[in-house]
Amino acid sequence: MGILITFEGIEGCGKTTQLRLLGDYLRKKGYTVHETREPGGTFIGDQIRKILLNPENKGMDAIAELLLYEACRAQLIKELRVMSDELEVKGKDKKIILCDRFTDSTLVYQGYGRGIKFEIIDELNRIASRGIKPAITILLDLDVKTGLKRARERNINSRQSAVGSRQSAESRFEEEALEFHRKVREGYLEIASKEPERIKVIDAAMAVEEIHSEIVKVVNWKFGAPTKVGRGN
Ligand code: TYD
Repeated sequence: MGILITFEGIEGCGKTTQLRLLGDYLRKKGYTVHETREPGGTFIGDQIRKILLNPENKGMDAIAELLLYEACRAQLIKELRVMSDELEVKGKDKKIILCDRFTDSTLVYQGYGRGIKFEIIDELNRIASRGIKPAITILLDLDVKTGLKRARERNINSRQSAVGSRQSAESRFEEEALEFHRKVREGYLEIASKEPERIKVIDAAMAVEEIHSEIVKVVNWKFGAPTKVGRGN
């Protein structure tokens, strides 16, 4: 399917900015990069995303929510595989896929956050992702208060913009209790300590450029010289 690099962290940690910067960096190096996100990333997934992030759906059952995230993921993996097969037929290099959130988000938000059993989530993650695991996961670690403050400011700014109504519908999680997000952050740090080879923790309180160069170092360290990234995988 190509090389999968995922970005994780609490709201407001700067994942999306860093994903784009890494995408630009890798494209400049000559790689074919596909940027995507969860929930969403596909036509069907974007429709499910709207349901998941709609503040009017606060009463959603935790299992219903879990299944919707997994449904989004199943669709995304299916489409990424089709894309990868098409490239293969054309004899082109496989892509590097940069994904804003993936299976670790489900483990920490639905598992550590909402208390659903880890065995259930692991199994559903495996089914939806067809066992595909990220080669690298960048975990942008940030203190919860700072993250939520940044996320709220982002929401206020976007409410004032033309796309405000859609963006404000995405603020359901950002309005949740600090306690929930503390559990999420702790969950992330715990899973990172269990899988240090894959999950690299980066201090998201640093300046944007500093974080970017740390991420570049991680990617180069993992794959050797950057020119080797994505070839023949
Ligand atoms: P989004 O607006 O994309 O937030 P962010 O910019 O912080 O990624 O909203 C995604 C929300 O969905 C976020 O609060 C985390 C949540 N989420 C889960 O609870 N479980 C999951 O499996 C995924 C992928 C996301």
